[in-house]
Amino acid sequence: MSILFSEDQKIVHITNASISYVMEVVDGKYLVHRYFGKAIRQYRGCGEPHYFKRGYNTEHRCSIPNVSFDDFPFEYPTRGHGDFRIPAFAVTQESGIDFTELLFKSWRVVEGKPKMSVLPATFAEKDEAETLEIVCEDETAGIRVYLYYSLFKDKGIIARHQRVENIGSQIVKLQNIQSISLELPARDYEFLSIYGTHAKEGNINRFPVHHGIQRMESVRGSSSPQHQPFFALMQPQTTENAGEVYSFHLIYSGNFLAQTELDQFGNVRAQIGLHPDTFCWKLAPQEVFDAPEAILNYSCQGLNGMSRNFHWLYQHHLMPSRFADVNRPVLLNSWEAMYCDVSLEKLEEQAELAKRLGVELYVLDDGWFRADNTTHTSMGDWKCNEQKLPGGVKKVAELIHGKGMQFGLWFEPEAICKNSELYKKHPEWMLQVPGYAMTEGRHEYLLDLSRQEVREYLISVLDFYLKDGMVDYVKWDMNRPLTDVNSLALEQDRKGEISHRYVLGLYEVLEQITKRYPRVLIEGCSSGGARFDPGMLYYVAQNWASDNTDAFDRTQIQSGFSLIYPPVAIGSHVSITPNHQTGRKTSFNTRYQVARQFNLGYELDLTKCTEEEMAEIAVQIAEHKKERSWMQKAFFYRNEVPNENYVAWSSISRDREECLVMIFQKFFNPLYSHGKFPLTALNPEYDYRETTSGKIYGGDELMEIGISVPTVKEDFHVFTFHFVRTEGSTQMKNCESR
Ligand code: GLA
Repeated sequence: MSILFSEDQKIVHITNASISYVMEVVDGKYLVHRYFGKAIRQYRGCGEPHYFKRGYNTEHRCSIPNVSFDDFPFEYPTRGHGDFRIPAFAVTQESGIDFTELLFKSWRVVEGKPKMSVLPATFAEKDEAETLEIVCEDETAGIRVYLYYSLFKDKGIIARHQRVENIGSQIVKLQNIQSISLELPARDYEFLSIYGTHAKEGNINRFPVHHGIQRMESVRGSSSPQHQPFFALMQPQTTENAGEVYSFHLIYSGNFLAQTELDQFGNVRAQIGLHPDTFCWKLAPQEVFDAPEAILNYSCQGLNGMSRNFHWLYQHHLMPSRFADVNRPVLLNSWEAMYCDVSLEKLEEQAELAKRLGVELYVLDDGWFRADNTTHTSMGDWKCNEQKLPGGVKKVAELIHGKGMQFGLWFEPEAICKNSELYKKHPEWMLQVPGYAMTEGRHEYLLDLSRQEVREYLISVLDFYLKDGMVDYVKWDMNRPLTDVNSLALEQDRKGEISHRYVLGLYEVLEQITKRYPRVLIEGCSSGGARFDPGMLYYVAQNWASDNTDAFDRTQIQSGFSLIYPPVAIGSHVSITPNHQTGRKTSFNTRYQVARQFNLGYELDLTKCTEEEMAEIAVQIAEHKKERSWMQKAFFYRNEVPNENYVAWSSISRDREECLVMIFQKFFNPLYSHGKFPLTALNPEYDYRETTSGKIYGGDELMEIGISVPTVKEDFHVFTFHFVRTEGSTQMKNCESR
């Protein structure tokens, strides 16, 4: 891992065993991008673009003949000087002029990875990362921008962020500050993103990049189920296991823009950052602003290579370290069993059965504070309804703890119902636009988290339940997008800041709570996966991926999220059949097999299970407990499948001695009876024994030829294979020795 400067200090080369990132300063002032990709030893100017005189163009005082700024690979582009492509940065000066020119001033290496002020970000020890800081300035506007590049040891990962400082005497308005802007060479690319909707998150979108701008975004106030703050650009031939992939992910939970532009010459510019349409930040002299961190990930081993990098980064350098490598508890969640109709009797009954099955964490979901059994009431007050639960949460916690299980509680801290006491007491605490009716979402409004007193109130509510150690786990929900995005407390010239201030407010509450109660495991949730993003993952360690618990749909949802998140961060529950969301019927085994390589839980009414089903659950939980210590740290791969009728995953232990494979058959179809499923990333030198059949295969054999599955006349059938390294397999003798 090193950051190397050329002798004349014109070129910087950031490199480790996997990647190189090269920039050059032209004429002492223009910072341009030269290369990002597989590691090279040294950059000596190879592949520099040739410019030619052309019509309808601009001319520049630059030593490169015929250069056009509209075709110049600016590292951090602004608009106004002849680069007409998507800009990464913009400020409006006090005069009202929208014009910025960022010129290079200096660069230096910073040890390790400096901590960002108020935003979630990846972290690293001093010997795990190295950081380049580049300073650019617009002297006329009095603006200084610091560009940060943190290179992680050995991996194809660079963490990027920008800090802007007002070094002048005028108040400026920051209109746009993208976290990454990357120039890619002219060739054919495909764009891959993750899209969805409530209860159908994590879908993969892949299409050829075409001339013009292609963008994915959220203006919903949170990262949203509609688009993940992520995209990848890759060659059309890239597969799960081969080909180059450049990917981008924003560590942020609010409005974002992810876009790519294919220009007139086939060059590609890719950007990700705060959404400029909902952002305008007043920056007075001496003030600074930090943009969220974004991750730049390069893989030359296809999409699985990209996922490996993200999984490693997020499990070891983003989620709370205290949970990264510890066994996650098997939980039972009350939602699909009781919905809001909770009672102490039901709870006691469920908890007793759960304990017998080996469940370790009992989660009381929504309903405990509601005045009735609907989602219409009481949100915001957070007082337990003692008619439903006599003795309150304390009594429930004692009951669960008394059975030797941990106790988890559901909250939706940001929401408030009109009929709550809080609403009557503080009508000014909601996001609202004077003169207009507020918009409800799931019968709720949203608290204005940009207000200090609102944040203090939420912290005090959580303090009340967490301070005595009553609660071991919190499910942190958020069930609607942001509307009426205005704060009554914010001055007129700061109205453009509210969307971002809301997210900063959320982070502050989470920061306080996680600092005060580090042992409490938090599971993020937002109507399922509507705010499943790396910003939240910095605080929450696991996320409920979707309200859809149907095993068939889950194969798609979890495959999609597995592109970027390690399976241990993805909550997956075994629920009842027919499934409450889809009406689909799948076997108990199928539901379990689809969940077990992820963060396993159960969400069903145990009193309605048959004796056989209860016995099956007990076996599943016991098996999972035996395996989770290697599986929750395993390398996870999406395996190549012969056709779209199958989904195949494997978890491989870090020492590659153990491997669990799941093959999901969508529908029985005799046409597909002879497909092969090649495995990935085993050690080709090892022999592996399949534990059910006792058969031994070489790692190379399993990867090059692949396994096959028998014909089973059943839709949604799952085949599982558990391979363990074995010594002393029978080698085939060659002809001579016979
Ligand atoms: C959301 C969550 C569910 C459940 C309900 C409770 O929809 O995604 O898991 O917690 O809220 O109201």
